[in-house]
Amino acid sequence: MIARLLTAVMTALFVVAATHAAEIAFDEPGLPESGILVIPVGSDLTLPETGLAEGDAAYIARALEAAGFSGEAGATTTLYAIGNFERVMLVGTDDLDRAGAETLGGHLINLSRDEEEAVHLVWPDTLTADHALSTALGAGLGGYRFDRYLSDASDYEPELRVHLSDPDGVEAAFNANQAAIIEATAFARDMINAPGNEVYPEVFVERTRAAFDGERNVNIRVLDVAAMQALGMGAILGVGQGSSRPPRLLIVEYTGGDSGDAPLAFVGKGVTFDTGGISIKDNSGMWRMKYDLAGASASVAAVLALARRDAAVNAIAVAPLVENMPSGTAQRPGDVVTTMSGQTIEIFSTDAEGRLILSDAVRYAQDEYNPSLMIDIATLTGSVRVALGREYAGLFSRHDEVAQRLLDAGEETGEILWRLPLDPSYADDIASPIADIRNTGGDGAGAGIGAQVIATFVDEDRPWAHIDMAGVGWAFSSTPTTPEGGVGWGVRLFDAIARQEEARD
Ligand code: BES
Ligand code: MN
Ligand code: ZN
Repeated sequence: MIARLLTAVMTALFVVAATHAAEIAFDEPGLPESGILVIPVGSDLTLPETGLAEGDAAYIARALEAAGFSGEAGATTTLYAIGNFERVMLVGTDDLDRAGAETLGGHLINLSRDEEEAVHLVWPDTLTADHALSTALGAGLGGYRFDRYLSDASDYEPELRVHLSDPDGVEAAFNANQAAIIEATAFARDMINAPGNEVYPEVFVERTRAAFDGERNVNIRVLDVAAMQALGMGAILGVGQGSSRPPRLLIVEYTGGDSGDAPLAFVGKGVTFDTGGISIKDNSGMWRMKYDLAGASASVAAVLALARRDAAVNAIAVAPLVENMPSGTAQRPGDVVTTMSGQTIEIFSTDAEGRLILSDAVRYAQDEYNPSLMIDIATLTGSVRVALGREYAGLFSRHDEVAQRLLDAGEETGEILWRLPLDPSYADDIASPIADIRNTGGDGAGAGIGAQVIATFVDEDRPWAHIDMAGVGWAFSSTPTTPEGGVGWGVRLFDAIARQEEARD
């Protein structure tokens, strides 16, 4: 009892001490007293109205000319000691698009962090408010740090202040939309970056409860081992049985839409650590398998974003949570498990565990919620990274309209997808002589065979897609908007799917 209480208190402390958020604010035009001044300029080298003295503005224009400043989005030049500013940065605006604006925001928030000074961005009326919001989003995403284990972490909170003519309107839009994405992405990144000794199934549940605390229209349900046994979820239980940390099935229901409207369902793989089980992985890179809960994190975080922005939609996150460990109680290669659907699976490799836990989870989501669209998301296979690399996630669906909807959402958000086939031959690859299917097999399309296993548990006429995010979920090096580590990939994609749904009615 005392131990449980202590765990609860520790969990609460960690939540409070989580991540350093960046401060993003919107101000009236007009120069601040100090800080770093950032001025957008295009290739015509015409400075926007900044409030700098005429002579200073003329000097900047001349300096840009002399430096051969291109004015292209992504170009930057820094000048020193102008007016009260030790540092003035000029940033290009030609062909600035959404992605470029996000990158700009990421650069600026990192500049603020490095210099420990607020960055003031003068936003000219010639640039859209939408791009100001994208810049702010990029700053919020790029301001994230996972530093709670660093005893010398800086407590400086980086600050971006955007000066524009309608600060209140833009701030309201930011708070209603981008702020939710930033916070939800930070939640997902925290879950992914946290090591396996910190986050295991019960902790994932606790953190989820804490994150949703106070949100309206939310109901959280948790199935424990006994509840899963009663439902016959032999696949989740089989993977979970090797760990001293018991599995859970977490369900977050969000009802911001009309009552009775079928929900969107986001079903995410939540392996809090994947050793491979008895089919144990070799040690090179095994530590990174703490990110094997990235799908569950994306699902839950997406619904968190919807709740935070009061989206007018119904949605659920379903997250099977397990730790895949080898032990005296672990499942063996050759074992046969019976899933919730009644279909049986022969375990070929205990390391192909994601498709096992998803088999029960997609079935549960389908039968219990009859979703209008079900998307499962998982760090399912190493082979998807071989096929598609680090930019594209793999997309599988039986339905062209469903696939197109997801591809569109990917283009819109920059979380891009590439569709791969669900070829009928994959079913032959996973045929078993003693059970309905095997959990792996064949020698070819690893990602497709994984998708095929999951597909076995979804009725053919249901709108369903599978996303293999193993290639995109972890950043091997930082970018302006993503520090090295957990990307929080999928939150924006799912938010865009929800926006499509909201636009429909
Ligand atoms: N979590 C892994 C997938 C993975 C592997 C993600 C490497 C990122 C990098 C998954 O559970 C797994 O182990 N998949 C196996 C499947 C195989 C046993 C059929 C794989 O991809 O090797
Ligand atoms: Mn595995
Ligand atoms: Zn895995």
